[in-house]
Parts: sequence; C-alpha cells; structure tokens
Amino acid sequence: MNRADLVVADCSQILTCQGPLPKRKNALQDVGLIEKGWIASFQGKVVFAGDEKGFKKEILPEADCLIIDGKGLTALPGFVDPHTHLPFAGSREQEFILRLQGHTYQQLAQKGMGIQTTVKATRQASPEQLHSLCLSRLDRMLLYGTTTAEAKSGYGLNLEDELKQLKVLRHLDEIHPVDIIPTFMGAHEIPAEYKNNKAEYIELLIEKIIPEVKRENLAEFFDVFCEEDVFSLDDTKKLVKAAKSAGFKIKIHADEFSPLGGTELAVEEGAVSADHLINITDKGIQKLSESQTAAILLPAVSFFLRLEKRAPARKLIEQGAVVALATDFNPGSSMTESMLFVLQLAVYTLKMGIEEAINACTANAAFALNRHESLGSLEKGKKMDLLLCDAPNFPSIVYHLGINPIKHVIKNGKIVVKDGKILRAD
Ligand code: NIG
Ligand code: FE
Repeated sequence: MNRADLVVADCSQILTCQGPLPKRKNALQDVGLIEKGWIASFQGKVVFAGDEKGFKKEILPEADCLIIDGKGLTALPGFVDPHTHLPFAGSREQEFILRLQGHTYQQLAQKGMGIQTTVKATRQASPEQLHSLCLSRLDRMLLYGTTTAEAKSGYGLNLEDELKQLKVLRHLDEIHPVDIIPTFMGAHEIPAEYKNNKAEYIELLIEKIIPEVKRENLAEFFDVFCEEDVFSLDDTKKLVKAAKSAGFKIKIHADEFSPLGGTELAVEEGAVSADHLINITDKGIQKLSESQTAAILLPAVSFFLRLEKRAPARKLIEQGAVVALATDFNPGSSMTESMLFVLQLAVYTLKMGIEEAINACTANAAFALNRHESLGSLEKGKKMDLLLCDAPNFPSIVYHLGINPIKHVIKNGKIVVKDGKILRAD
C-alpha cells in the first residue's frame, strides 16, 4: 500500500497525458483517458491515477489526508507554458490601434516602436514595479491553468536591465505557486543606441552579458530573435555558439515573419525548441520532424496580429515533429496569459485535434523545457500539478468558449486555486 495525503475521488474524467514522451504523430491523440477516475499524491508527487478498484487496493490515505470530491469534474495536468516574455513594463494599446488601422507589426518596429517601446518602459521601471506587474500576471496565468511557465528577459538590452528582469524572475519563482524557468534573451532586438552598430552589441552580449548571466546563474536557456532586420542567420549562429559554450540550453525565435532558416539552425545546434514557425519551409519542417528539437507553436500571435498565415501544425504533426503550444505572452504580438485560450485557438485555428492540443499544452510542453521527467503528465513520481475543471468531459473545455471552467488548481500537491479564487499562503 502507498500513502497519500491528497486524493481527488471519482472525477468524471482524468487525462493523465502519460508517456512515452515526447509524443509524436498518432501518439498525440492519446491523452491517457480514465473514466470515473481517482488520483492521489503524497508529498507533492503523484502516487496513483486509475479507477476506484485500483485505488482501494493500492492506496492508504493518511489520517489527515485531504479528500476532494471530483464528481462532475474533469482533471488534467497543469498547463506548462514554454514561451513567455513575462517581465515587461508598460503596454502597447496605441500600437494596437495603429495596427487595426492597417500598419503592420514590422512597419511599426521599423519606425522605432514595437519591442523598443517596451524596452524604454522596462528600463524605466524599478525592480519593485516590475515585480508587482509580474505578480498579477502570474496570478492570471494560474487562474487559467498554467502551473509552470518559461519566462524570457529581452526588454532590457543592456547588462543592468537584463539582470534586473532576471532577478525579478528569480524572486517571483520563490514566492509564487507558478514555477518559473528563466531564459536570457538579450538578443531580442538591437538596442536603439546600437542601431547602426549591431556588431558591437553582439560583441557586448558575447563578451560581457552572456558570461555575467551565467556567473550569477540567472537563466537556464538562451534565446535569440532570428529575423530580418533583427539577428541574421549568421548573427544567430555566432550568438548560439557563444551561449552554448557558456553552458546555456538553446531556444530560437525561428521563421516567424520571414523564412530565414532559423529552424534548420535550431536543429543543427541541438536547440531544445524552435519557436513560432509561421514561415517555416518544407525543408525546415522535414528537418525539425526528424529531430529532438520541439516545435513550439504560438497560435495567439497569428490571431493577435490578424495574420492570414499560421504555423503549419498539421504538416508538422503528420511528419512527426514534437509539437508543443505556448502563449508567447508579450505586449506586442500576444497579450494573453491564458493557456486555456491557446489550447482553444490551436483547435479552432491550427486545426489540431482536442487531444493533440491538450498533449501539446502539457506533456510535450514539458518536453520543450526539458522537464518531461518531472512534470507535464500525471504519472507516478511526477509533480501533482492538476487542474480540476467544471466540465463533464474534456472536449467541453474546448467546446465551451469565453468562460473559464477551471475550478480548482493543485500545485505540488497543494490547493492553490479553490472555486476559481487564488488561495494565499498567509
Ligand atoms: O515572440 N518575436 C519577437 N518577440 C516577441 C514580440 C515581442 C514584442 O513585440 O514586444 C514575439 O512575438
Ligand atoms: Fe516570443
């Protein structure tokens, strides 16, 4: 018999999203569905997921075990959001209005708006201001089902302000239930003061900022915006090589607006993920599909920028790529913290199946952060990060739009959202 200190009894359905991981092709359709399921954890780790009979045979609840009635609820792993630009200040409604009037995202960037607008605001913000902005955003993430989020710097673009963003992330990770996995993205844009001297900024990144971020151990991943008018394929190669030798794992913003070949480079460099892929080529699709590099799709970006073009999710899945989904939460191209919304968009706009999209927000999203051994699926020994939805079955989560069905959220075996409200530790 195994001990349990938390039990969710008699759920309508439980989706375990269990491995083998990562999930490719048809395996993406398997969400590990258990009808009338029971799930239990001990000291934050899953000890059981199965039916009542198996539960009674295997599990001995502790005297003070918390038992939640799962009747009428559908349970699934907490969402993992593997791509966000969480620590920024300011907002960009003015540019949003300009876009609605017909200006494109790239035109605004060329005029010195876009990322530069947010860099100005973020440089001006104190660590305390940045911290409090991020706290509200993390709360919203949690309410919409995210229990682990990657978060990138990249609105500082100098040593001091990049470190400021990353230190805020480190502190937030300590105090907020959402686990934060930090990424250094000093190569997000060329800072205005280096606009005519990109080479010098790349030198500064390589010689000074990358080593300092590593020395302070402030980030696990390095990311770069490989794009026309930003970092070329050659720039990206140089930066990635430096980051790898400093000990960072790699992610690349690849083939978002123009097919520069960032995807192929990501595969060649053994990147953990290639992200965006709206303009990936057939060669890129093939190369990515044959690799261990995850394809992180961000359907909220095409939606938010009102682009006709979307990442070719169907082709990627058919050819065997490890497809994951993320918000890309940022003020310019995807102003949403909600993985629930992304899950729904993936089904409606990328033509992913419901099961495929759920696996892409959980198990494969954990793989896209190198965390599939410990989270993203409800298997023995993994983190008890669980969403309990007021939904009779899992398709209902995608079918019923414009509402939030997430009733309770459990993080590391503790209730952190109860009846749709965040429970504070104090
Ligand atoms: O992932 N593509 C580059 N970076 C962000 C946009 C950031 C911004 O506009 O502030 C993205 O879409
Ligand atoms: Fe991004």
